[in-house]
Amino acid sequence: MFDFQSLTAKLPTRVKNQLESYFEALEILTEVKDPKVLSALGPSGIRGMILQRGKQGVPTKITSGHYAFFDWSYPHDNAEMEDLYRRAKKGQWDGDMLAWGTPVDPYNPNVPLLPESFVDLSILEKFGVRADSKMKLVLTHSMASWMLSQFLHGEQGALFAAAQVTESVQFFDGKLYGATQVMDEGRHVEVFRRYLESKLEKLYQINDNLFVIIDSLMTDSRWDMKFLGMQIMVEGLALGAFGLMYKMTKEPLLKELLRNVIQDEARHVHYGVCALREHFNKHITEAERREREDWAFEVALLMRNRFMAYEVFEEHFEGILTRAQWREFVLGAPGLQEFRKTMFSRLVPNLREIGLMSPRILQHYERVGLMQYFDGVAADKLSGDQMIRELDQQAASLAA
Ligand SMILES: [Fe+2]
Ligand SMILES: [Fe+2]
Repeated sequence: MFDFQSLTAKLPTRVKNQLESYFEALEILTEVKDPKVLSALGPSGIRGMILQRGKQGVPTKITSGHYAFFDWSYPHDNAEMEDLYRRAKKGQWDGDMLAWGTPVDPYNPNVPLLPESFVDLSILEKFGVRADSKMKLVLTHSMASWMLSQFLHGEQGALFAAAQVTESVQFFDGKLYGATQVMDEGRHVEVFRRYLESKLEKLYQINDNLFVIIDSLMTDSRWDMKFLGMQIMVEGLALGAFGLMYKMTKEPLLKELLRNVIQDEARHVHYGVCALREHFNKHITEAERREREDWAFEVALLMRNRFMAYEVFEEHFEGILTRAQWREFVLGAPGLQEFRKTMFSRLVPNLREIGLMSPRILQHYERVGLMQYFDGVAADKLSGDQMIRELDQQAASLAA
């Protein structure tokens, strides 16, 4: 590898940061040497990371070319999905019913959005930044808004992906279930947007890595790739992240909002596991399974790196810290460490359950430190209620 620092030393900071982000992108996209994966992710990588299509301040048009799968015999073809549909109808709720009258002050230290330990200012001080309690509140507000903004962008992706797979999936019971998910995702967009707009008054642009994943699954014409990308990867990770934020926040409206969203998401991931377990085991070849396994691993890396919050760096520290120093700050922040851990604890067991964790790929997961989550409970064995109960217990034991 060449020396990035000395090669770019004379360039202006902005250009240097941009170049550095390209190299990071390249590094991720060449991690697994599977040409099929590169051709599936590569063009999205260019649109997301180099052209930054999500950050141009104008709407993005993404071309999609999947089939709509009609079945005129209306079969009852999947009892588990039929049951999920029934539960989803009962589980509908109205975003207007949340306690929107709750006053939210992101700078009130008595009702913190995120705990004190979420960031570690001593790391910033090490790099010569003068940090005080005001900065801590500003950074916490920024990080919370950044995370919720990414949740919102992910929800927009989920809304469209749910609509697409409802058309293209082959299970008829899955289509009916999918209709409820489209409604759920619409409601999630509604409540996250409203919270950011009216309570935090801040919206960050979509993170490049998240854009790449959304672009890739929207442009892929295969329904199972859309499913794998959205229901398993993005939603699996989001479920972990929602859970942790639910557990950590002391802000009652945000907590209530997340409790409701988690209940829905638990069904979505369950549906993903249910559909893909059957599809990957019965309907695809070993070569196709391998391609999906490699794709999932690359996407897991993109997601792991997504949580570097470079958009917050650009807002507060560009020209003050290097990207490498910022990374050290993010990687060292106790709250964010916990975040990365929790996100993957929900994802990895689901990948195992749908057959994308063969011994061939395990060494890669081992190498990047994600194997510790292998034995966790998969989404089809865990309801939203159970998940909330566990989170409440964990939060209570933290407080004790
Ligand atoms: Fe959602
Ligand atoms: Fe979802």
